[in-house]
Amino acid sequence: MEYIAEPFKIKSVEPLKILSREERERRIREEGYNLFNLRAEYVYIDLMTDSGTGAMSQRQWAAMMTGDEAYAGAQSYLRLRETCRNIFGYAFFQPVHQGRAAEKVFLPILLSEGKFSVSNTFFDTTRAHVELAGAEAIDCAVPEAMDTETPYPFKGNMDIERLKAVIAEHGAQNIGAIVMTVTNNSAGGQPVSMQNLRDTAAVAKKHNIPLVLDAARYAENAYFIKTREDGYADKSIREIAREMFSYADAFLMSAKKDGLVNMGGLIGVKEDALLIQTVKERVIPLEGFITYGGLAGRDLDALAVGLEEALEEDYLRYRVGQAQYLGEKLREAGVPVQYPVGGHAVFVDAGNMLSHIPYDRFPGHALAVELYKEAGIRCCEIGSFMLGRDPKTGQQLKSMFEFTRLAIPRRVYTQAHLDQVANALININARKHTLPGYRITDEPPVLRHFTARLEPVR
Ligand code: F0G
Repeated sequence: MEYIAEPFKIKSVEPLKILSREERERRIREEGYNLFNLRAEYVYIDLMTDSGTGAMSQRQWAAMMTGDEAYAGAQSYLRLRETCRNIFGYAFFQPVHQGRAAEKVFLPILLSEGKFSVSNTFFDTTRAHVELAGAEAIDCAVPEAMDTETPYPFKGNMDIERLKAVIAEHGAQNIGAIVMTVTNNSAGGQPVSMQNLRDTAAVAKKHNIPLVLDAARYAENAYFIKTREDGYADKSIREIAREMFSYADAFLMSAKKDGLVNMGGLIGVKEDALLIQTVKERVIPLEGFITYGGLAGRDLDALAVGLEEALEEDYLRYRVGQAQYLGEKLREAGVPVQYPVGGHAVFVDAGNMLSHIPYDRFPGHALAVELYKEAGIRCCEIGSFMLGRDPKTGQQLKSMFEFTRLAIPRRVYTQAHLDQVANALININARKHTLPGYRITDEPPVLRHFTARLEPVR
């Protein structure tokens, strides 16, 4: 598979350093085999997340200098609002400091004790905010998503029949919101088709349930629709994005992904005046005044430019191309990955690759630790280690997937970096049977994967 060359050149650089193997082994041991504990300076290539780790363009840096830091009514806010209106076509936009802030402000308006919320798959923080609001989160991913080997163009889709069954079971009046995550991060950065969005919107409308987009990677999703779905090849990414948003009533966005900024988020409401009023009332005590929402004026300007740049087709071709390139290279060498590869990351099927390590010895984590030891590359597990324990019984839960996620920061690494990642994984694959599993020696009660300590077990 051909690497699609960067549609930019590099003007500002950050040096990289690689520790010796001995030093890497010592550092990770000292940090309880938890990659979140590692200092970033000890990492050579950092694929822990694509969130907030991208490089800004010269236009974004220039826009920051025009930031208007007025508390109320800043021009930066007006510029961002204008951009959002043009792209999304909604009536109201609320900046917030990141995606989970949008969730914290918005979800309790629709959800409370006894309610349910259904999604193609909730991202962890979204699920946490559904539960903090007292409601129950239900995932309805299509069965194709669970089968990493068999290609299917839209593995991010909602299982419409299951959605209908969940509504019938709990009663439409008890479903506070349907959340469509585009792209579906937890299933492997997999896209949702326009048809599936349309079908989900029809079900939501029929039962009078608000449809909310979790739009963190909406531009990447639009690119997949353009290249994979009948009838969209000749439409622009902007037209496709506009149509996607037309089916929803509101959106929540972590702008740290397709907003191309290091920090930021958005709430959008299409037209509901009461909902708009309630968001405004809640955002002031939680995030800050309506016209800044926890961000500096300069951040709003960088975001206004970033939103535009992320819709450029040559950027998206290169961006999605990077994940495809790395994924194909691994697949050709026999490393199992969620296939086809998603938009922002390659999800290695560690459960399959390290079949000698059971789920409660965390194969996805074992591979992530080994990749650091092998080449100083940092990534993260998305599997049973991250999922944690049943809050009632304390039993380790078994995740649907045991993934090691190689998330690619936007506009940061080159083909040669991705080759290093592929080679390191291919080396590990050749001696995969020697890898140990891991046992937790110390863990906090919630979100343990960020701070737990572990040790290898044979
Ligand atoms: N929704 C999705 C689909 C996400 O992937 C994330 C973050 C959020 C919401 C929350 O946004 O971090 O700005 O508060 N995902 C990051 C990741 C952390 O690594 O996948 P946030």
